[in-house]
Amino acid sequence: MHNFANNILVTGGAGYIGSHVVKQLLENTDSVVTIIDNLSTGRMTTIETLKTIGGNRLAFLHTDLKNFSEVEGIIKSNSIDAVIHFAASIVVPESVANPLKYYMNNTVNTTNLINSCVKCGVNRFIFSSTAAVYGEPAKVPVLEDTARLPINPYGMSKLMSENVLIDSGKAYKDFKYVILRYFNVAGADGKTRIGQSFPEATHLIKVAAETAVGKRNKMYIFGDDYPTADGTCIRDYIHVDDLADAHLKALIYLENNESEVFNCGYGHGYSVKEVIEVMKKVSGVNFNVEISGRRAGDPATLVAGNEKIKSMMKWQPKYNDLEYICKTALEWEKKLS
Ligand SMILES: NC(=O)c1ccc[n+]([C@@H]2O[C@H](COP(=O)([O-])OP(=O)(O)OC[C@H]3O[C@@H](n4cnc5c(N)ncnc54)[C@H](O)[C@@H]3O)[C@@H](O)[C@H]2O)c1
Repeated sequence: MHNFANNILVTGGAGYIGSHVVKQLLENTDSVVTIIDNLSTGRMTTIETLKTIGGNRLAFLHTDLKNFSEVEGIIKSNSIDAVIHFAASIVVPESVANPLKYYMNNTVNTTNLINSCVKCGVNRFIFSSTAAVYGEPAKVPVLEDTARLPINPYGMSKLMSENVLIDSGKAYKDFKYVILRYFNVAGADGKTRIGQSFPEATHLIKVAAETAVGKRNKMYIFGDDYPTADGTCIRDYIHVDDLADAHLKALIYLENNESEVFNCGYGHGYSVKEVIEVMKKVSGVNFNVEISGRRAGDPATLVAGNEKIKSMMKWQPKYNDLEYICKTALEWEKKLS
């Protein structure tokens, strides 16, 4: 078996994506996993579910990353040898209204975490970044060397964290990182054990699932006059379990390779209207949809160039199927009801 690392620290492991990665670590490796989460958007029930999978190979510490010295103590006392860092604030409009929350939680806390890793000799660091670092790219598919020009504080807070990692990787020779830039993450565990739980989520597939189960009486399409076939925006939706697998691959990758940046997406997209049609089909509910105006900062098409992750990390998606993505999101939403 690969050396995934003996003791892995996962920040934000009670959240949506982190919990799917922890699930896979517990199911597919023999690593011991320690989660740090402040439960601001993550849920204790998610931790309880993960405990049923991992038993005593999973430890949960309810704390905040801003408690730097406590976090460093946790790294030392658990002999952590790899960190997977999800914890962040992730709502774009909130980042515009309250940028300091984003720079403090995303950039300052990440910088302190990296500092503790370098001090404690943790030399594998996997970072959750985002397509938001690209802003409104001129060309699609978006390749990893596209200029990073974020258009909101959320994207900027992530870009700054990337830069801290990149400079640290250059300066501290034993310290290696993988930056994963996620495109649109969607879907849920195929056994409906975990999923996206935060009620104010703004992601299209989550909103469509909420509308299909009647938690919303209608949903909106923000703009149908974009230069795409049906006039609505096109995005690259990646199933959360395929994304989770990329994190396990990244741990293996860093065993024998240098630091790297990878896009995570399928390399093709679906329009908002196509997604809504598929959600209507899998749910059997013809829910109400209203056309509304464009939102600021929504590029017409955003699709990941994914040749790099496929060739260098040997990552192969298993759930590249919009029906499966919508179905798992819907089943999870029903369970949450
Ligand atoms: N969901 C997406 O589509 C998407 C896309 C691109 C990038 N990302 C990135 O993926 C990561 C995870 O996103 P998610 O969708 O799972 O979000 P989430 O809100 O479900 O998970 C974040 C977790 O971090 C915890 N957390 C936040 N701040 C913390 C702090 N200071 N200390 C301790 N715990 C803290 C929250 O309680 C939560 O459990 C984020 O870094 C985000 O920027 C997500």
